[in-house]
Amino acid sequence: MHDLQRGAAVSDPLTPYLDVDRSRPEHECWVTGHMVAGLDGTAAVGGRVGSLSTAPDQALFRRMRQIADVVLVGAETVRREGYGPVRLDEQAQELRRRDGRSSTPPLAVVSRSLDFDWTAKVFAEAPEDAPTLVITCASADPVRRAEAEKVAVVLVAGEDRVTPAAAMQALAQLGHRVVLCEGGPTWLGELVAADRLDELCLSISPVMGGDPLPVAVTPPGGGLAAFELKGAMVEDSTLFLRYERGSQGGGGHE
Ligand SMILES: NC(=O)c1ccc[n+]([C@@H]2O[C@H](COP(=O)([O-])OP(=O)(O)OC[C@H]3O[C@@H](n4cnc5c(N)ncnc54)[C@H](OP(=O)(O)O)[C@@H]3O)[C@@H](O)[C@H]2O)c1
Repeated sequence: MHDLQRGAAVSDPLTPYLDVDRSRPEHECWVTGHMVAGLDGTAAVGGRVGSLSTAPDQALFRRMRQIADVVLVGAETVRREGYGPVRLDEQAQELRRRDGRSSTPPLAVVSRSLDFDWTAKVFAEAPEDAPTLVITCASADPVRRAEAEKVAVVLVAGEDRVTPAAAMQALAQLGHRVVLCEGGPTWLGELVAADRLDELCLSISPVMGGDPLPVAVTPPGGGLAAFELKGAMVEDSTLFLRYERGSQGGGGHE
């Protein structure tokens, strides 16, 4: 057991995340989950994440998208949080362009139902060089799929459901090697169960209560995935923990 002391002030909290070598993923892509939880592990309050996230967490959440080739979310998170396309400040956009990447990463949404308002900003306001991606399965409603194809790039990754492996293969084929998954818990749980989570950046907010929804909901029968603590920072009473896949590997079922 070791004491975790408050050390020197971190000049830019994004730097430790930018410095991570994500070039050697276990599978097709490097997948980083970025989530916030209360002390009891809850992932939402009243169906929204807002009141769980402290000011330093919100600031980091927005900037973290700089690391991503693509930002991946489950459909319910898009619907509940009213997601729009990813925005980054001018300096972050410039750095990305210098690396030969799009100014902002596209958003990719996983959905079987394709139950979306196709005029919503998440589709209508996506930049030309980073159109929103919709990852769905072959059994999705063909009429809705045709609607989706008018406003988004549609990727089919699985028959009756999207499988994490097929989704990551489809993203990798588009050149997206670093995937930042912002939840929600259901989709994140699928990634964990399929052994597709390489890194978890978890903010712990100093609150309890809220919805009975943990940060990841793994499907029944999933094994345990092991992680190693790689970094810890604190601002006021919010903890910022960074874990990477442990050497024991994960559950790994599809
Ligand atoms: N604490 C945090 O950091 C955090 C982060 C994100 C979200 N949240 C909260 O989490 C809640 C939403 O999360 P959630 O777990 O309910 O939903 P979610 O994971 O965001 O989305 C679930 C939806 O994704 C689609 N999906 C998931 N797995 C799929 C698969 N294998 N194949 C096809 N489609 C699949 C389905 O969409 P269709 O229904 O369209 O088929 C499913 O209903 C909200 O309350 C939000 O505020 C918290």
